[in-house]
Amino acid sequence: MFKWSKEWQASAENDALIVGLWKKQSFEGLSNALDEALAGGLSTLKENQQLPTKEGEWTSFFSLGHVNTSEIYVVYLGDGKEFDVHELREAAGKLGLALKGKKVRSVGIFLDSFTGDEVDLSEAAFTWGEAIAMTTYEKLDYKEKKNETRKSLQEVHFYAEEGAESLTSDAGSGYTYGKGTNAARRLVNIPGNMMTPTDLAHEASELAATYNFELDILERADMERLGMGALLGVAEGSDQPPKMIVLRYQGKKTWEDVTALVGKGLTFDSGGYSLKPGANMHEMKGDMGGSAAVLGAMAIIGEEKPAANVLAVIPSSENLINGSAMKPGDVLRSLSGKTIEVRNTDAEGRLILADGITYAKQLGAERIIDVATLTGACVVALGHETTGAVSNNDALMADVSVASEKTGEPVWRFPTGKAYEKLVRSSDVADLNNAPGRPAGSITAGLFLAAFAEDTPWVHLDIAGTSWLNKSTNLGPAGATGVMARTLARYACGLEK
Ligand code: BES
Ligand code: ZN
Ligand code: ZN
Repeated sequence: MFKWSKEWQASAENDALIVGLWKKQSFEGLSNALDEALAGGLSTLKENQQLPTKEGEWTSFFSLGHVNTSEIYVVYLGDGKEFDVHELREAAGKLGLALKGKKVRSVGIFLDSFTGDEVDLSEAAFTWGEAIAMTTYEKLDYKEKKNETRKSLQEVHFYAEEGAESLTSDAGSGYTYGKGTNAARRLVNIPGNMMTPTDLAHEASELAATYNFELDILERADMERLGMGALLGVAEGSDQPPKMIVLRYQGKKTWEDVTALVGKGLTFDSGGYSLKPGANMHEMKGDMGGSAAVLGAMAIIGEEKPAANVLAVIPSSENLINGSAMKPGDVLRSLSGKTIEVRNTDAEGRLILADGITYAKQLGAERIIDVATLTGACVVALGHETTGAVSNNDALMADVSVASEKTGEPVWRFPTGKAYEKLVRSSDVADLNNAPGRPAGSITAGLFLAAFAEDTPWVHLDIAGTSWLNKSTNLGPAGATGVMARTLARYACGLEK
């Protein structure tokens, strides 16, 4: 789908040509050649102030036969001062959505014009690939009228004077990352009745078949045998059987130095007997966003094949109410042997993750990153823009932060310490209290998990606010964002793009 060449005029016909415009632009290089081919059209439009002047905005005009492409798109990129891959991703996304709306099938991108001090050709190609993939995502509905899947871009030609063949693989890699985000978005957007733990396990097994991952799915009987009392406690209230889903990707010769990605796979959270209010309860179909991020990351890892060993562990259950559902005051014995007093049945995520984290350790994880829509408090603290983090290891936290910065999925680490830890251990009947109260809710939730990570380096990512947006963005529709799929994969691939 991606090609590179210096010969923009001689190469295949495109439906559209795309060129970046800068504040102080005298058109140079290939952009200048385009301007000349258009009989100075670009510079004339600029002089007459008919080109956009707000960053990320674009305009299009017909070439009227001057070149063998009918439309030219000009994207304004500003004065270059703050231009980085994140600005480019936004601009490319915005344009990508417009091209999709216009059913454009093939484009030529003047890649030189999208580089700057902080964006080289390879990063520009990656970012275009990423944005193009993310904007192809279509949210399905279940209306009588069939979903219309719009045909998206089929061919992208990059034109760059000093480019190389490797630009096509950079773009392909970006595209893979974008697709991983879409995979996560799709899983989260599926209604709860169609995305039960069994369905989630099925999705994981399809992924395993596609990428040759080793797959293991624990059933209720296995969990009972192993003593996963925390996960089982949550699952008790539901008729849907819980699953502990495990995928193994081995990118090294031997199974060592293992990184575990643990995702909360709560396919519907009613709160249980500590019932949630009705108004927004339907959004709790998205309570498996952590598991979706992990599966999206595994899809990227399956394509990119890094020399790393990655374990995906997904505890999955519903949190519902029936006659045998867990009740406030119940005590559960977790896989680790630690007991937990269930002060609030709505704090179920940390229960299933407790067993997920312990199981990851039993399977040989040397470091653990967990991702979960864990606390409403995180939405209050950081809103919908930043993912909250809690960690017991500065080095791992720093590596995850680097991955998140490159990806443009910001993460902010919460403070921890003995004073907070005390709150988690405030039960008089069990080792841990699953709901010590509203103050510092995201921190105590994280520290609850820390008690299971113990001395294994661990980072917890709370995506309660970032996994779901009620408005569309430059890179996709309202609803699931697929957040952290790319960050996890980037961490695992050790990619420094
Ligand atoms: N799944 C929720 C957290 C959540 C809230 C996710 C909003 C996405 C948006 C979680 O299981 C939960 O209910 N947590 C409780 C914990 C409390 C009872 C200690 C919360 O945040 O209120
Ligand atoms: Zn809950
Ligand atoms: Zn939940």
